[in-house]
Amino acid sequence: MAYLKPDQPEKVYVPALQKAKRSGEKLVCLTAYNYPTARIVDEAGVEIILVGDSIGNVIHGYGNTIPVTLEEILSATKAVKRGANRALIVADMPYGSFHINADETVRNALQLMKEGGAEAVKLEGGRNRVALVNRLVDEEIPVMAHIGLTPQSVHKLGGYSVQGKTADDAQRLIEDAKMLEDAGAFAIVLELVPREIAAIITSELSIPTVGIGAGSECDIQVLVLHDLVGLTFGRLPRFVRQYADLRQVMSEAVTAWMEDVKEGRYPSDQESYGLPASVKLEEIPD
Ligand code: KIV
Repeated sequence: MAYLKPDQPEKVYVPALQKAKRSGEKLVCLTAYNYPTARIVDEAGVEIILVGDSIGNVIHGYGNTIPVTLEEILSATKAVKRGANRALIVADMPYGSFHINADETVRNALQLMKEGGAEAVKLEGGRNRVALVNRLVDEEIPVMAHIGLTPQSVHKLGGYSVQGKTADDAQRLIEDAKMLEDAGAFAIVLELVPREIAAIITSELSIPTVGIGAGSECDIQVLVLHDLVGLTFGRLPRFVRQYADLRQVMSEAVTAWMEDVKEGRYPSDQESYGLPASVKLEEIPD
């Protein structure tokens, strides 16, 4: 049997992230939830696409990530896979998909990989997820861990605030990160963590840290695409830098089209189809 390369040569695989960490190269990760955004992000050269459970906020309008289902992540992952050739595709495990027991977690993660085309999964939690991460990694499922603010704990935390602000909490975060690395996670998201603590974790771990609201020392930066391009509603978190205002662009396009229709300017003859010259209108019976 010949071993064929499963994808094109420049495809990003998990080991490339470790290599980049060792060489000090900064990488980037963005969310995508469908074919066009996956294509845009992939063609721009982003190394990791996260099919995040932020889909609940920015696509489905749930207000938080709690209601997101495995089916929603699966369907989004399939579309992203069709749109992305190069980036590593990481599927988020939604709330409830890894909480019952380890066997069910493995089954759900395998579904995201086998059916969805995910190349890794992400799950939220610290020391309480160590056994689970171990088990998933044992089953050849690459795991990205996620500590600091874990939005699936919103009801327990009572909101979205910076984590690790006391010496004890910071110590706990550092310990959690080390335990998750030892359990076999290939990378770890640090969300809303003081930059000094993120820097300590980044320097003490040999796996890359993926920062969001965690300062510039993290090995990889991640953002929610819709925040970056201005396609969200409400106040943006302080760590988001908005690079475009797609909401404004889309709203202006919709308004302009609406006005053209109402004023009879759309569609023009160029935007519709006439009969071929060979057919005379009079020949068509009423
Ligand atoms: O769901 C998501 O988009 C995330 C990122 C914010 C890391 O978990």
